[in-house]
Amino acid sequence: MDELIEQIKVVLADSFVMYTKAHGYHWNIEGDDFPYLHDFFAGIYEEVYGSIDSTAEQIRQIQGRAIHTLLEFDKYRTVSDVAVTVPTDYTAMLSDLLSANQLVLASLMRAYDLADSNKEFGLANYLQDRMMAHKKHAWMLRSTLNKAGD
Ligand SMILES: [Fe+2]
Repeated sequence: MDELIEQIKVVLADSFVMYTKAHGYHWNIEGDDFPYLHDFFAGIYEEVYGSIDSTAEQIRQIQGRAIHTLLEFDKYRTVSDVAVTVPTDYTAMLSDLLSANQLVLASLMRAYDLADSNKEFGLANYLQDRMMAHKKHAWMLRSTLNKAGD
């Protein structure tokens, strides 16, 4: 069970870092596609932020301590905390978010396997829902990148 608790902390930290990236890109994007990309990044950060509370509460439900300091998020994250700083480089922003999203998905899959082997089926169900949400983010990010590359 300890390994499962530790892995949900990784999911929480990775989700939080992905959220901060998407919110930062929502703020800083510039260029011709500003209106579209500003809203596109908002859709991602709002969805991912919406999972933070419930993921932390899943840790509590299996009697772990929910991490919440920036130092703890930094310790547990696998997603890079380095962000794109060129405001017009939307392709780099989209690629960075796509990479972050893939790492969140990988963390979710590890957590799912551990939840399943610990017979925490409700938690496994929750993690499946998160995987579906991040699969959708991957699809939308990939498709938007293709449009940006035209
Ligand atoms: Fe905003």
